[in-house]
Amino acid sequence: MTPSDVKATLSFSDGSPEMQLPIYKGSVGPDVIDIRKLYAQTGKFTYDPGFLSTASCASSITYIDGDKGELLYRGYPIEQLAQNCDYMETCYLLLNGELPNVTERAAFTRLVTRHTMVNEQMQFFLRGFRRDAHPMAIMTGLVGALSAFYHDSTDINNPTHREISAIRLIAKMPTLAAYSYRHRKGHPYIHPDNDLSYAENFMNMLWRMTEPKYVASPVIARALDILFILHADHEQNCSTSTMRIIGSAEADPYLAMAGAAAALAGPLHGGANEEALRMLDEIGSVANIPAYIKRVKAGEIKLMGFGHRVYKNYDPRARIIKEVADQVFEVTGRNNRIDIALELERIALSDEYFVKRKLYPNVDFYSGIIYQAMGFGPEMFTVLFAIPRTVGWLAQWNELMADAEQKISRPRQIYLGEDHRKVTTHSKAADAIAVKHKEVVTAG
Ligand code: CMC
Repeated sequence: MTPSDVKATLSFSDGSPEMQLPIYKGSVGPDVIDIRKLYAQTGKFTYDPGFLSTASCASSITYIDGDKGELLYRGYPIEQLAQNCDYMETCYLLLNGELPNVTERAAFTRLVTRHTMVNEQMQFFLRGFRRDAHPMAIMTGLVGALSAFYHDSTDINNPTHREISAIRLIAKMPTLAAYSYRHRKGHPYIHPDNDLSYAENFMNMLWRMTEPKYVASPVIARALDILFILHADHEQNCSTSTMRIIGSAEADPYLAMAGAAAALAGPLHGGANEEALRMLDEIGSVANIPAYIKRVKAGEIKLMGFGHRVYKNYDPRARIIKEVADQVFEVTGRNNRIDIALELERIALSDEYFVKRKLYPNVDFYSGIIYQAMGFGPEMFTVLFAIPRTVGWLAQWNELMADAEQKISRPRQIYLGEDHRKVTTHSKAADAIAVKHKEVVTAG
């Protein structure tokens, strides 16, 4: 981090001594004030629920300019990556910092492809889940369970173990996702096909029935691949921060990722794509939009797929998804929910409530419409988000492991409970336990 010439001065109205706080500059984006010595020097903490003004780490992976509506992976604009690269190249970029050359790309793809199978015992785990279990709950359980299969390679201080864990997770997520999908349908699980690309193989494991070889629609495969690129990383969001927090306790990456997946499942985060689609269904027709907007403005409900902590402009991922939707509809037929979504967006973006709060469609507003056109039920949408976010979680976890400044995450609090007080009642159960204890001790 580059120190700034400017320093912040913190002063107190009660005459306590002032404190000078260093300021650091990022390569782009706002400066940060270093408050690490604040408690040691002043005996005071900061209060920032939800981390509205707190940077928890230094990172070189992803940058969002929320005002401009700009997203960069390792410096490359998301639009250029979506147009010119595939998901394997994006994974390599996020993990290694540079786009691969032809040889590196082939070697990386081969490595991922070789690790797509999961231990056959995973199927026993799957059988334990009810058929109607939510696939995201299944997925979260399966990811955590992977830790139990790889005792030989979960030394987080060993770079080779870290690398192979990342490859395994990127490779196996589509397999686990497809198994969660087919478990619900009661269809037999399909093994990976190494002749196919990452997206095509996922489609094979989802949708192959009795045909000997699955042939993927190139348009759908490319659309999925672009969706994977768009969802690959998004700096310090809720699930990524969860990955880092669990990782800071030195848990292995499988366990940390189960926690990250659980965070992603929440409807305010990755679960919003499922909620957004259900919302469009509830609205039902363009004619019902004004009444729905009225309820949103009255604070009764939220417009799911709208708003973002960082973006105060159009989410660039939502714009790309809108374009992909048209290509997908040419193959699958039009999903009429797009008409409701477009009109909802038009009305919301011209309404003072949304304009004043800078609420724009986010990535989850349009993605579900495409997923549904492809044949997925809403319950699968967040699983489809988790597959590509795996690489982001792992890139961020690797960065954490290499960061000498990181410590175990342990926020402080402002305590508002009771001060010291005395217990004035005495429970008979406590007496009975004391008597029992005495008997055991006496008996020897
Ligand atoms: N519909 C209606 N009002 C909203 C919405 C919404 N979707 N989002 C925010 N607001 C209002 C909110 O009520 C508040 O109003 P007021 O100032 O009158 O109290 C104001 O806008 C600021 O919102 P906030 O809740 O303080 O903002 P936040 O940064 O804490 O929350 C958010 C961000 C994404 C959780 C929130 O916008 C939201 O709940 N959106 C709906 C869920 C959603 O689409 N989540 C997916 C996010 S993108 C995928 C990902 O990266 O996770």
